[in-house]
Amino acid sequence: MVGSVGKKPIWLNRLRLRFKDFFSWAMGKNKNSVPDNPQFYGRRKGHALRPHRQLLMNELLPKVQVSSEGNYVLDASEIWLEIGFGAGEHLAAQAESHPDIGFIGCEPYVNGVATLLSVIEQKKLTNIRIFSDDARLLLTKLKQATISKVFVLFSDPWPKKRHNRRRFITPENLTTLSYIMTDQAELRFATDDMNYVRWALDAFYQHPDFNWQDQRPGDWSNRYADAVPTRYETKAVKQGKKSVYLTFRRRTRT
Ligand SMILES: C[S@@+](CC[C@H](N)C(=O)[O-])C[C@H]1O[C@@H](n2cnc3c(N)ncnc32)[C@H](O)[C@@H]1O
Repeated sequence: MVGSVGKKPIWLNRLRLRFKDFFSWAMGKNKNSVPDNPQFYGRRKGHALRPHRQLLMNELLPKVQVSSEGNYVLDASEIWLEIGFGAGEHLAAQAESHPDIGFIGCEPYVNGVATLLSVIEQKKLTNIRIFSDDARLLLTKLKQATISKVFVLFSDPWPKKRHNRRRFITPENLTTLSYIMTDQAELRFATDDMNYVRWALDAFYQHPDFNWQDQRPGDWSNRYADAVPTRYETKAVKQGKKSVYLTFRRRTRT
């Protein structure tokens, strides 16, 4: 016996997941567009929330939530977007230092959303809106040329070869991002996974709408000057891993 999940053997569950991957690839679903109902492979929930955090989820989240139709109210000169904010430390710090900018953060992990809500409450931040689900569901709803900066920081690297296609940086997601980004909008992508660096550089290089901004050799090893370290970045430092910090710009529309 190899092992079991509930009553089903593990090998059967794995086979089922691989079949699902193969099926969506064979149908061309992920090739040219973000699917309507994309499969999210990450964790949605960790430990049970403490009572106050649960209260924030019940009472504060509905007030700052971006609707599933992509609607939000923000009185701001620009809108910046963070995809996969984790515990939200980077998003909250950016929002605090740029009160004139409106921020949208996407994160399906409930415990991360609850942590950010507690910072929003403590610091009385009024310029953050949250989409508490898979960012891909929101990206297709946002209006053209409305986002001036995008952060994708320490996005899940999915290191196993058979899982690489789960990575957030894909030609389809770049096309969707390019549509909602303003001309010359910046996109930051950081990771400590060198395979993901190669994967991302390849995807951006092949995409007609993005330019890599690095000017000098080694620029990619410099942290973004205005960014607080994220939880995963700090974890990488503790493990002695090097991180790569890439910056791209959306080309001006002709
Ligand atoms: C490795 S963690 C990094 C979190 C944070 N950015 C940091 O640096 O500490 C990646 C995060 O991205 C989130 N994520 C993964 N896929 C996502 C998606 N499609 N939309 C929004 N968030 C996503 C995960 O839930 C997870 O919290």
